[in-house]
Order: sequence, then C-alpha cells, then structure tokens
Amino acid sequence: MSVLVDCAPARNSAASRPGLAPLLPVVGADTEVPLVPGGRIRYADLDSAASSRALVSVAEQVAAALPLYASVHRGAGYLSQVSTALYESARERIAAFVGARDDDVCVVTRHTTDALNLLAGCVPDGGAVLVLDCEHHADLLPWQRRGAVTVLPTEPTVVATLRALGTELARTRYALVAVTGASNVTGESLPLADVVALARAAGARVLVDGAQLVPHRAFSLAATGADYVVFSGHKTYAPFGAGALVGRRDWLDAGPAYLAGGGAVHEVSVEETSWAPAPHRHEGGSPNVLGAVALAAACEALAGLPAGALEEHERALRDRLSEGLTALPGVRLLRIWADSEEPTGVVGFIVDGADPGLLAAYLSAEHGIGVRDGRFCAHPLLARLGVPEGALRASVGVGSTLDDVDRLVDAVAEFLARGPGNRYELGSGRWQPVGDPRPLAGLGGADPAVVARGAGCGPAPR
Ligand code: ALA
Repeated sequence: MSVLVDCAPARNSAASRPGLAPLLPVVGADTEVPLVPGGRIRYADLDSAASSRALVSVAEQVAAALPLYASVHRGAGYLSQVSTALYESARERIAAFVGARDDDVCVVTRHTTDALNLLAGCVPDGGAVLVLDCEHHADLLPWQRRGAVTVLPTEPTVVATLRALGTELARTRYALVAVTGASNVTGESLPLADVVALARAAGARVLVDGAQLVPHRAFSLAATGADYVVFSGHKTYAPFGAGALVGRRDWLDAGPAYLAGGGAVHEVSVEETSWAPAPHRHEGGSPNVLGAVALAAACEALAGLPAGALEEHERALRDRLSEGLTALPGVRLLRIWADSEEPTGVVGFIVDGADPGLLAAYLSAEHGIGVRDGRFCAHPLLARLGVPEGALRASVGVGSTLDDVDRLVDAVAEFLARGPGNRYELGSGRWQPVGDPRPLAGLGGADPAVVARGAGCGPAPR
C-alpha cells in the first residue's frame, strides 16, 4: 500500500464555497486506499473525532524541530537548551490557545484521558464530583475510580438538564463539576456559561472536557470562567502523543505527582522526596518535546484562522451530511437534547435494520470511507439514546470536504437500495469482508483478521 504525503497548500480561498476544499491542508489528504472489489480511491476520512490527520504546518514544525531534538530540562548542551526552550514555549502557546489566566498551569499530558486521570488525583480528599451520564468514559471512569462521584441523568432538553444540575448543586456540596465541551457522539453541548454560573453559585469548580470542543470552536478559560480544560493533540491535528491539562494551580501544586520520577522533584534522599510544583510535578520522565511542539503548532494554526471560518466550514459539511442522511429511508440521527444549539461536526446515526459494524465495514471495503461504529466509549449515553448495541458516527474537521460527505451519503443510499456487494463475516466481534485482498502488511500492520478494536469502545459484545 503506498501512502502519499500531500504537502500542497490549501486549495480553499476566502471566496470559495465553504466545504469545497479543506480549510487547512492536512498530511495525506490525497492518500488512496484499496477497495475490496478492486481498484483504489482517495480515502474519505470521516473519523476526525477519533483521530484527526496532522496539519501540514504541524508536520513542518515537527520536521524543523527534529534536528534540534535533545534532552529537555536535563542537559548543558546547546541543543538541550534549545529543546528546553522549544518545550517551554510550546507550553505557553498551548495555554494561550485556551485562554489561560496568568496564574493557570499548563501540564503537557499524553491526551485527554491522561489529563483527566491526573486531575482526578488532585481533587482534594473528600471533595465530591458531579458529572452527567452523557460523558465520554474518559470523563467518567477517573471519577468513578476516585470515589465520590454523582452521575446525573441527562434530561431530554438542555433547559431541563440545567435545571436538574442546579437542583443537585443546591442539594449537595460538590468540589467539581466535570462537563463535556461537546459530545463525541452527537457534537452537542450544554451552554458552558450557564454551567459555570450554576457551579460558581454552589461553590464548585468546573472542568471542561475539551477533546471534542477545542479543535472545533474557540474556547477560553478566562472568558468562560471555567477552572480547567483538557484536550488531545491527536484530535487537534497534532498526532504526536501530547495533550494538555490547563487550569488552576492550587490543586495541581498540592496533589500527588502524577508520575513519580525524574524531573518531578526538587530534592530526593533515600528517606524522602520534595516534589516540584506544577507543571513539572506531573511531568515525571523525559518530556515529549516533539508532541508539545506539534500541539502548539496546531493550536496556532487554528487560532490563526479568520474569525468564523472554522464554524462556517464545519457547518457546511455537517448540514450537508445531516440533510443527506435524514433524507434516506430508515436513517435516524442521534440527538441528546431537543433544544441544543449548533453542534460541532459530529453526526451519530443509525440505519434501521442495519448492523452498524457491517455498514462501517462496507463503507470502508467498497467505498474507501472511514467512519466509526460501536459505542464510542460512551456506553451510558448510548443506552440513554436507546441504542445500547451501538451506532455509526461520521465526523468532519478542517481537512474534510463536501465530496467526502457526498460520498458517504451516496454509499449509504446504495447500501439501502442494493445491500453490500461483497459478503461479510463476523470475526473477533468485527465485520470483515470475506476474502479481503487489501494488504496491511508492509506498514507494520497485522492480518486483517486479527485487527480488532480495544475492548469497551466498539460494538456491544456479540
Ligand atoms: N474518544 C474518541 C472517539 O470518540 C476515540 O472516537
């Protein structure tokens, strides 16, 4: 399989129709993939919500940093000092992107899940946490494991959900409300200003799970009044292994070091350790300087877009996708709230009578389209939406185009009209085309028969 790297400049111009071309150039925009019936086609990546492709500007900044790469915070050599400066400047640029206040801390983490586990270890002992049942597992399981967490049922409307949140906050004292910035299943969100106001009135802090928000909408800690935000580089066009936790210093300075090890300390004797304050306290081990450089580059590329351009691009794609899918018989879009405002470019849907896993396998095998199926690491939400067995999800980003979206709608229409052209079978809980000739070898890949998803995020066990 040849993997093409497309470093061409964006073909979009201010005058062109939103969605006709990528808003920002991404690496591999023209990558072709093999089809089971034969031939090849440009990959239509409609799974940006899971992992987004790298921006060309990110790849360029990583390539420029590579010759300078040396140890961070540890070396007297000139390149060690350069790498340390690159890392610390990346931290500042990441913090600025999410509107950090002067006294906020930016901890470079691996991703959102990492950041939330870190924060869960720093909420003061005895402090209760409140979440809704529409959260991604990353914003649920760390709190469950920590202990005192209340999972509030999501109501059918935003208005009723906010009312329930207010009632609960008035009834019980909470240290923290942890809320999604945008659902990874539907792209919907609660009005953050209202959540912050309710929490503030009750003396609670607010954590925003920004994994699905920050890559798609401007967000500011200072402007919203939220206390913490977490997000992932691999969903923000910077798939080099870094994410971030940004927010109030006091809990992060007082909490236990997330990873006990070199770099996180002031002084160590065989009897005891004096830990450094945040952020170094939580960054034990050699820092991921290339990941941080990549994430900072992505943040600046997004921040540098003209006001409203990102929203306009994603709106054009999401509207076309939603309208195209709902016009098909038996297709139902998932929605948490009847009165939510404009979602991000994430469209969860089901097709009556069609197994989501089979449909996803068909889209890949016969059309070269990548979507996600299953339960999206949000089992309680899928149960609440009445689809505990799983659904499909298409998601767009800066690299997506109307052509990608049209191909998906046409392919689903073809499936409904004629069914799949190939035969499929279930193996290891995953649908696979029978006699799949597509090679994965040569890329460090595995036999297609053994490529299965991680437990818990895929379809319900069959
Ligand atoms: N959390 C990612 C998703 O929703 C992986 O797809």
